[in-house]
Amino acid sequence: MSNTDQTLANLLQEDRRFEPPAELAAHANLTAEAYDRAAADREGFWAAQAERITWAEPFTQVLDWSNPPFAKWYVGGKLNAAYNCVDRHVEAGRGDKVAIHFVGEPVGDTRSITYAELQDLVSQAANALTDLGVEAGDRVAIYMPMIPEAVVTMLACARIGAPHTVVFGGFSSDALASRLEDCQAKVVVTADGGYRRGAASALKPAVDEARTKAETLGHTVEKVLVVRRTGQDLGENGWDDAVDVWWHDAVDSASTQHTPEAFDAEHPLYVMYTSGTTGKPKGILHTTGGYLVGCSYTHWAVFDLKDDDVYWCTADIGWVTGHSYIVYGPLANGVTQVLYEGTPDSPERGRWWDVIEQHGVTIFYTAPTAIRSFMKQGREIPDARDLSSLRLLGSVGEPINPEAYVWYRHVIGGDRTPVVDTWWQTETGSIMISPLPGVTAGKPGSAMIPIPGVAADVVDEEGTPVPNGSGGYLVLTEPWPSMLRTIWGDDERFKETYWARFAKQGYYFAGDGAKKDSDGDLWVLGRVDDVMNVSGHRLSTTEIESALVSHPKVAEAAVVGAKDEDTGQAVCAFVILRESALDSGASDGGDDIVAELRKHVRKEIGPIATPRQIMVVPELPKTRSGKIMRRLLRDVAENREIGDVTTLADSSVMDLISSGLSGGKGDE
Ligand code: WTA
Repeated sequence: MSNTDQTLANLLQEDRRFEPPAELAAHANLTAEAYDRAAADREGFWAAQAERITWAEPFTQVLDWSNPPFAKWYVGGKLNAAYNCVDRHVEAGRGDKVAIHFVGEPVGDTRSITYAELQDLVSQAANALTDLGVEAGDRVAIYMPMIPEAVVTMLACARIGAPHTVVFGGFSSDALASRLEDCQAKVVVTADGGYRRGAASALKPAVDEARTKAETLGHTVEKVLVVRRTGQDLGENGWDDAVDVWWHDAVDSASTQHTPEAFDAEHPLYVMYTSGTTGKPKGILHTTGGYLVGCSYTHWAVFDLKDDDVYWCTADIGWVTGHSYIVYGPLANGVTQVLYEGTPDSPERGRWWDVIEQHGVTIFYTAPTAIRSFMKQGREIPDARDLSSLRLLGSVGEPINPEAYVWYRHVIGGDRTPVVDTWWQTETGSIMISPLPGVTAGKPGSAMIPIPGVAADVVDEEGTPVPNGSGGYLVLTEPWPSMLRTIWGDDERFKETYWARFAKQGYYFAGDGAKKDSDGDLWVLGRVDDVMNVSGHRLSTTEIESALVSHPKVAEAAVVGAKDEDTGQAVCAFVILRESALDSGASDGGDDIVAELRKHVRKEIGPIATPRQIMVVPELPKTRSGKIMRRLLRDVAENREIGDVTTLADSSVMDLISSGLSGGKGDE
């Protein structure tokens, strides 16, 4: 039995069921009839969902799928995404409703922003960006902490039709530089720094470095707009008058009047970079109309959103979850939400629960990694707070193990709250598979079935649906409005990555393995390609391998994602050192070289990519055609007996690797 099969067998013994609360079911936004309604007329269903959005010009066709996989949704329609997220709520008389309760990491640093205030801020930022030379179609990079200005900047870009690309603040200057170059960003919006773990953490210096690096790649960033958040020193060469502009100079003095222009439904809204199976990140392109419909509909349906809810999604705006479920979905729906800048344990454990208590959060959306870390800390910490305002909990980013699900529901949700385990991806733009809280009896660990309007299946190698009780590849069988439109600048890679595998059937291949249980409910098992999922963050094995071999002492590297109790998966690297490094005494794979390589990966990609383990080995297991057999390395990394080695070019390699590791060398 393979590992996956064993996991499946364990999962299938899960027989706990949680019925929807009667009160919620009685007033649910979406009821069971929606599944049939959507299946009977999918396009009609999506046409109806589009009424959630205000169109400046109505669309004339729901879907143009005449040139797959290049979709056009809501053909002929025109709209402005920022108008939909801000102005229309003010026009409807809801200007005094709080849009954002901002909670800075330093205790007491809070600020509430109403929709009317948000409209002024977004208009000012739109005017300021225009003054800096940004026009519709230009790309703007955003490298910011979790502060209101980040949301304002995204909306200001959308308002003037300039696609944004948000780069996670934890990424290194190298990672930022390659993204700036790939999408040819004209302007970067950043901050001096942000607060993390009780300290000011600098951002601006990384932008300066990235700008210099982008220059060597042949790309010039014209302007850098800088929010003063921490007031920290920018260093001696930390300011360039020709390029750098303070936000408080450019934005605060700009007019609060700005007329939003209507853009085509297929106008690019943003590019979000995500890891793929090669070293080069993919710029996932989302466009305006379909994306906004998808985010608004799913946020309303899956979270059963009501007018008086206080919603909080803990994601960073540097990831797609922050785009779809902090900015576009919730604001299009006119919610009141919490935006928190810092880490869960600052200034002390329990900070998140304090925020929930203080703001009366009713809907809470977070990741399994966070839940597992809270389980470890013990229930006394949340128990000491009043969490009775919560009525619905969500999970996203990685498979949630049944124990974490049950703990989440029981300890955080007081057994009142349904848990929606939502499966989706950067590429899908919005939630695809999830329970409906007023309809579905939840099973811990299962994302259940596709939401109304979405069609998914689990298929075998040939693309044939597997029967209940079996596993295979997760596919989406019909186009959906918030689907990615292409990979920025690389239509071929778009076709190859997502649509070639099941080309005959025309299915979208998600890259995940999944299983249908005996009821036909779906259990997502994780990636089947060379992508890892560490704490819900996608990392490419190849990207980390290239970072390692860029170090002068490394001859070859292989990276695998190994199971990790806390982070889901962890990065484990196997490296072969160069002769010269061996000569200089690094041959024992001692602490020095391992520490040096870990630091190197942090610098090249960012702290999230730092290997948990680096093992110095004499050889790597390869097939006769030279392909690294990661499966065997995963066995080593997970301390398992080594699997079938018959296809190895040299079957003694695994003995060499295992014997070299028996002393536990290389593990920091
Ligand atoms: C994984 C995050 C199991 C999956 C929204 C997917 C999940 C990848 C779930 C996308 C879930 C996300 N259960 N696995 N509920 N949600 N994943 O692009 O492997 O950062 O392909 O989007 O995360 O990660 P991404």
